[in-house]
Amino acid sequence: MCDDKTGSAGRKQILVLGSLNIDLVQRVPRIPRPGETLKGESLQIYAGGKGANQACAAALLGGNAGLAGMLGRDTFAQRLLDELERAGVNSTAVGRAGAASGTATIFVLPNGENSIVISPGANAEVSESFALQTVDSLETGDYLLCQLETPIDAVAAAMKAAYEKGVVTILDPAPAHDLPDELFRSTSILTPNQTEAGFLIGSTEPVETMQDAGRAARTLQARGAATVVVKMGEQGCFVANGTDTKEISGFCVQAVDTTAAGDTFNAALAVGLAEGSALFAAIRFAQAAAALSVTRPGAIPSMPRRSEVEAFLASCDSRA
Ligand code: RIB
Repeated sequence: MCDDKTGSAGRKQILVLGSLNIDLVQRVPRIPRPGETLKGESLQIYAGGKGANQACAAALLGGNAGLAGMLGRDTFAQRLLDELERAGVNSTAVGRAGAASGTATIFVLPNGENSIVISPGANAEVSESFALQTVDSLETGDYLLCQLETPIDAVAAAMKAAYEKGVVTILDPAPAHDLPDELFRSTSILTPNQTEAGFLIGSTEPVETMQDAGRAARTLQARGAATVVVKMGEQGCFVANGTDTKEISGFCVQAVDTTAAGDTFNAALAVGLAEGSALFAAIRFAQAAAALSVTRPGAIPSMPRRSEVEAFLASCDSRA
């Protein structure tokens, strides 16, 4: 990785177009059945949303990160803006809508896995024209990170405009949704997790093995994505880049809460690439950042700083 952490001037922009949510989190012994009342641990309220998560993770890792999205005019909005500022994210492209700020209700299981229900609120008011306006400031070689918690038309318009001017576009297809072919063709790097990869190739089952991930990656490349990185949880990643393919093993950590691990991965991938790292090195950096994030509770509060990721990688290398 390059060592330039001396300010944002001259560094590639990492613009995230996406959602901002307040996460209402309960640790539960299991997911409640229909008609059942379960007792969980005390409610935790965190700043989150896939867009805000990716922007904060990128900034904490040393990236020149900005966020474009929509908040309501409520107290949740201020809490989210405060969190963006603390992380060092440029939030000048975060607008205000009439609807309430987005929220996510999250159940976290004892093994760290989660189930999430989002209520989009203001995130649903990200329009195509707003999205296009926000990518105006990007130049060739900058980065645009999108997910699917804002309207797909807006995401597709921003990705197309950015891709056509040589911006590296990274799409996290989460939550899983049918995508138009044009969106695949505007995607430099597509990063589905196991569930999303399964969904995108028309299966009701997640991809379970590296072999299945390889098949899914090649199908998604055939639809137009230049590079596909299937995030396989603790198994690691399957990467299809042009005609090259590679399996990259993951890090083994004690998971407390997997919320925002995928967001941390995407942000770190963009930071690594923006600094000039090769794809596989940037993926290893991203895996380390994501591994650290699952060892702590919450979305944005779980994200590691640059120095922590470097120390973690150094300790893994010294044990290898
Ligand atoms: O990716 C994790 C995020 O998904 C949470 O922060 C929640 O807000 C939902 O958007």
